Amino acid sequence: MTTTKTLLVFDAYGTLFDVYSISRAAESLFPNFGVPLANLWRDKQIDYTRLVSLSDPSATDGSRYYESFWEITKKALRFSAEKLGLELSLSQEEMLMQSYDKLDAFAENREVLEELKNRGLRTAILSNANSDMLERVSKNAGIHHLFDQIVSVDQVRQFKTHPSTYALIEHIYKIKRSEILFVSSNDWDALGASWFGWDAVWLNRNNNPMDRLGPSVAHVAKDLRALLTILER
Ligand code: LAC
Repeated sequence: MTTTKTLLVFDAYGTLFDVYSISRAAESLFPNFGVPLANLWRDKQIDYTRLVSLSDPSATDGSRYYESFWEITKKALRFSAEKLGLELSLSQEEMLMQSYDKLDAFAENREVLEELKNRGLRTAILSNANSDMLERVSKNAGIHHLFDQIVSVDQVRQFKTHPSTYALIEHIYKIKRSEILFVSSNDWDALGASWFGWDAVWLNRNNNPMDRLGPSVAHVAKDLRALLTILER
């Protein structure tokens, strides 16, 4: 059977880019705190994206409050360092922030993305990160050219899992929902996309338990290679 999918949409961090080097960089600055700092930082970063998407503190003047993912990430880092009792200098902050630009792509990515192109499929990134961040990380990792579009939710001033972020892709591509396959290693993102109505692949790279809330995602896989068989079903 051939697939009905014509567009593969990928999340960025953890899905295409290996965020492990962030805890390594954190560990080099704060021995024994690398993993706790990286984990708290990521949790707080996502927490802040949800706060921004859900709250509307400036509703009275008609404009919606919004901060870019870069700013949110910086503020989440400052909070996390303080919470763990770490003195974070400006140069340490800069070094940790820059690690977001220098993430490696997962080893299997290039081969899988090239094969998707050989099969005539289109590929896009849909990420919470602002466009500058996405350009830098995908160019540094050498996979920028393997995507037709790199889409930042910045355009709608909302973060995933707000429905307007997934809708952005449908607006850009003007294709049927059933033609889209979304791929994310973030369980909440795979779930949000499924809730929105997309078929999603949850890349469970770290053997996490299944989420208990929401619809079940269409596919669960260990890494990007699985896409090649999923698309043949
Ligand atoms: C992204 C984060 C959430 O790329 O992984 O959108």
